[in-house]
Amino acid sequence: MSSEAPILDSSLGLVIKKVSCQRRIDLSQYNANFVRRRLNVRLRAKGLKDYLQYTSLLDKDPTEYNALFQSLSINVTEFFRNKDVFDAFYNQILPKLLRASRQDEIKIWSAGCATGEETYSIAMLLNQASESYGRFKFKIMATDVSNKAVETAKKGTYAYSSLKSMPEKFLTKYFQQVSDGNYQLDKKIIDSVIFNVGDILTTLTPRSLDVIFCRNIVIYFDRKTQEQLFARFAFSLKPSGYLILGKTEMIKDSAASLFEPEMPRERIYRKRIRITN
Ligand SMILES: C[S@@+](CC[C@H](N)C(=O)[O-])C[C@H]1O[C@@H](n2cnc3c(N)ncnc32)[C@H](O)[C@@H]1O
Repeated sequence: MSSEAPILDSSLGLVIKKVSCQRRIDLSQYNANFVRRRLNVRLRAKGLKDYLQYTSLLDKDPTEYNALFQSLSINVTEFFRNKDVFDAFYNQILPKLLRASRQDEIKIWSAGCATGEETYSIAMLLNQASESYGRFKFKIMATDVSNKAVETAKKGTYAYSSLKSMPEKFLTKYFQQVSDGNYQLDKKIIDSVIFNVGDILTTLTPRSLDVIFCRNIVIYFDRKTQEQLFARFAFSLKPSGYLILGKTEMIKDSAASLFEPEMPRERIYRKRIRITN
């Protein structure tokens, strides 16, 4: 028998409503098939037959909300995931930003940072750049909707498996193996990031940003929500700021009036300069 046993979903709306009322997370904005698949995982884990039973479980055991968010998040990530994107950022985008910044602070937002691997990859690159290109000021903000992911990120301790795409020189320079076999990131890199819990769809976004990394998240959202999100990002970026998406994500439809492809293969977009008259 298939492990994807059919599950009645007539009361899916009830679960969505409950999560929205109790936790202020609007699952109706996520891709419906994605939500269904992740909910079905929770139903199977709890031996439940349908979403109605699942709403009762949420009432009886509010810790189930966390398990559900954990399941929805699939916080899969690693250091330097799709390394070509980080190479492009370091070699092509960062020099342009430094030329344009005229000593101003470079502001970067890692939106949907999961457990911090992406954010710290950026932080190590900026640290490296300030040594190679000359010192400059930068600020890195990182947010994720998962409190647990953010707490893990703040610790900066990682298993070797998440470090496998990392250039050897960074491993030697910024990490120390600790007694349990894990690797501890240098405090200087940890302290260079401001982490917060936040929902990219609803929480106030940072402003005057030079770059937004938002990778491997927008695929979870339906088209309308993606367009709203891209509009939020455009609002948060400086004129000509950069938006970097995941390798399977792209800007289409009405959002194409806000962003133009800068390095399409790497999914690096640039905010269009608006001519107002
Ligand atoms: C697959 S991980 C991507 C992590 C990292 N950006 C990367 O590409 O390696 C997706 C992350 O998005 C977060 N996420 C999902 N919906 C979110 C939302 N509405 N606001 C903020 N973060 C969200 C999840 O908690 C998860 O940590």
